[in-house]
Amino acid sequence: MLNFEYALPTRILFGRGMENRVGQEVKKRNGSRVLVHYGGKSAVESGLLDRVCQCLEEAGLSYVLAGGVRPNPRLSRVEECIRLARQEKVDFILAVGGGSVIDSAKGIGYGLANEGDVWEFYSRKRIPAGCAPLGVILTIAASGSETSDGSVVTNDRSRLKRDVGSDYARPKFAILNPELTFSLPEYQTSCGTTDILMHAMERYFTTVHNVELVDGFLESLMKTVMHNFRIVLGNPADYDARAELMLAGSFCHNGLLTCGRKGDWASHALEHELGGMYDVAHGAGLAAVWGSWARYVYRTDVMRFAQFAVNVMGCVMDFGQPEKTALEGIAAMERFMASTGMPVSIRELGYELTDRDIARLADSCTDHGTKTVGAFRKLGREDVEKIYKMAAE
Ligand code: NZQ
Ligand code: ZN
Repeated sequence: MLNFEYALPTRILFGRGMENRVGQEVKKRNGSRVLVHYGGKSAVESGLLDRVCQCLEEAGLSYVLAGGVRPNPRLSRVEECIRLARQEKVDFILAVGGGSVIDSAKGIGYGLANEGDVWEFYSRKRIPAGCAPLGVILTIAASGSETSDGSVVTNDRSRLKRDVGSDYARPKFAILNPELTFSLPEYQTSCGTTDILMHAMERYFTTVHNVELVDGFLESLMKTVMHNFRIVLGNPADYDARAELMLAGSFCHNGLLTCGRKGDWASHALEHELGGMYDVAHGAGLAAVWGSWARYVYRTDVMRFAQFAVNVMGCVMDFGQPEKTALEGIAAMERFMASTGMPVSIRELGYELTDRDIARLADSCTDHGTKTVGAFRKLGREDVEKIYKMAAE
């Protein structure tokens, strides 16, 4: 097990009706003028936004509305909202939505707390020295951004999707009411479920040994997610199943399940290029590349893939041929993803990539071969290109 530090500064308020406490939660943290940040239309149509505004008013808080965040949140909208928030003398940001809204809110928070170009944090030219305080009302179980230190933003000028992580950006509170996710379209539930599973797998496939306890947490989380996804598919308003997915999404990405180990994150790096270049949904992009990544790297530690196959996917261990079991596990996860309606190749994602497209993706992913991605197996530019090729076939 590796040395680690762990703290979860985000207070989680979980359950029915918890969003009604939002005004008091902002007030407790000395917020007085709130930027209410939201997405396209779901929070408006469900009436959630009106209820949130009413709660803020009842708590004696003033607010400014700033919607229009798109999935794969755009830098240009972050910049507009930084200007608006400065002009309106905002002192607290409330994100009402999913990962895109939360990540955009974190970008605005960075912009308010630091001078200069906010993109420099995402392009790793500068490290943020602070972030304005933010809170979250979550409407989709997926990214884990409600408790994570990460923010992922797409630069709409360069079409680069990049992330930055810092504890400054961890939300002060996250309100998780599973009922708020009942209205999700099936496709978004599937994308979210895939993302949660991927956050578990990115951590599970590690080369660090003796991490048994967290291995067990991850195995349990993955099985719970797959089981409850099936229930939600049959009944989108099943509170208990939605609750399991919501809890899994947050617990998976708040740092607890990274304790003592080093995650891989190559599939995320591969997806970020697809998201930046083609604006694909994050979960779908991950599903399109994961199987190819897994088949490319599994020989690095066949027994870990075999353990995954047996403990998570329910395959039977073939002690004489562990490699066979490892491959069965990969195929079983791909079948699960496909059964949720996710694409398991880039073609299924809807793109016929040429060799030139693939070379461009590989260049961007590895900064023209100057950096590697992944930790389970460090992948150079040629490796990345091969994986994209496998995924494109
Ligand atoms: O814009 P609206 O109308 O709200 O619709 C959204 C959006 O179209 C819809 N939606 C959300 N809640 C809903 C709903 N529709 C009906 N009912 C509801 N209750 O769902 C669509 C997708 O929303 P989005 O916020 O994009 O989804 P998600 O939470 O999956 O976030 C994806 C983003 O998070 C980033 C991804 O890269 C992607 O940009 N990630 C952020 C991470 C982090 N900060 O730690 C880690 C992740 O790995 C991920 O990279
Ligand atoms: Zn993710």
